[in-house]
Amino acid sequence: MSDWSQGSGPSGGAPEGAAWSGHEGARAFAAVEAATDWLLGYPFVLRELAGHIGAGQVLVDYGCGPGKVADHAARVLGARVLGADTSPEMLDLARASATAVAEYHLVEDGRVTDLPDGCADAVMCNHVLASLPTEDALLGVFTEIRRLLRPDAPLVLLTTDPACSGTEYASLRIGEPGESYAPGDPVTVRLRRTDGSWQEMRNHAWPVGLHPALLERARFRDVVQHRPSVDEALAVAAPDLVAARPWSAERAAPPLVITTALAAR
Ligand SMILES: C[S@@+](CC[C@H](N)C(=O)[O-])C[C@H]1O[C@@H](n2cnc3c(N)ncnc32)[C@H](O)[C@@H]1O
Repeated sequence: MSDWSQGSGPSGGAPEGAAWSGHEGARAFAAVEAATDWLLGYPFVLRELAGHIGAGQVLVDYGCGPGKVADHAARVLGARVLGADTSPEMLDLARASATAVAEYHLVEDGRVTDLPDGCADAVMCNHVLASLPTEDALLGVFTEIRRLLRPDAPLVLLTTDPACSGTEYASLRIGEPGESYAPGDPVTVRLRRTDGSWQEMRNHAWPVGLHPALLERARFRDVVQHRPSVDEALAVAAPDLVAARPWSAERAAPPLVITTALAAR
């Protein structure tokens, strides 16, 4: 039986409003384990980026949160990684722990004001879209990412698929068993903490099939989607993580989707 947390806030330990906002939200996210993401998500994002970006080139992590993935990317790819986030508290946590990241920037009113147009050789955006309440907000994020990218440079997006709702994965559960969610519906996501307990967060259900058209509206081209499987992860993820669990749910219905696109001229 799972130990779902009963946190102080209505969304289970973090304040209501923007997901993962404020000090409590930032601390809550920094404590999640993310095993499923380190199996089927982040290593595949890095593999996509490795084909496009090398030492010294600029990679922006848009919605970097506490900076764990940005820090890992900087060490593995040798790129100059810049983290950007709307949450000053997340950026404070990241500055304190993710030390391989070159710079951190606050996103204010949908813009990273101190980064110029075309400054990025690549952008990754991991688990940010589910925080956004409207389709216009998704388009706004894609438009700002497009502004940051130089022409022909890649965006790599990592998202959960709300069609996988109700399944208990090693480190997450999206929504309730037997429920289905319309685009933008509120959905409670449960994430496993490193101490084995579970953190709840209110997110929004954005079907992965929505992303290509929105990306094209934001002046991206060549959109490709890929759903990494456990069999593929055998060659991509850390061997000790792969060996640590049976990954039964992840094998039956892999819940993460990677969308790549190039900045159109
Ligand atoms: C679930 S966390 C993911 C953090 C990190 N990308 C990762 O995968 O570990 C989502 C992050 O997106 C940030 N965020 C939410 N809306 C944003 C927006 N419109 N622009 C940039 N960051 C945003 C939040 O503050 C939070 O840090």
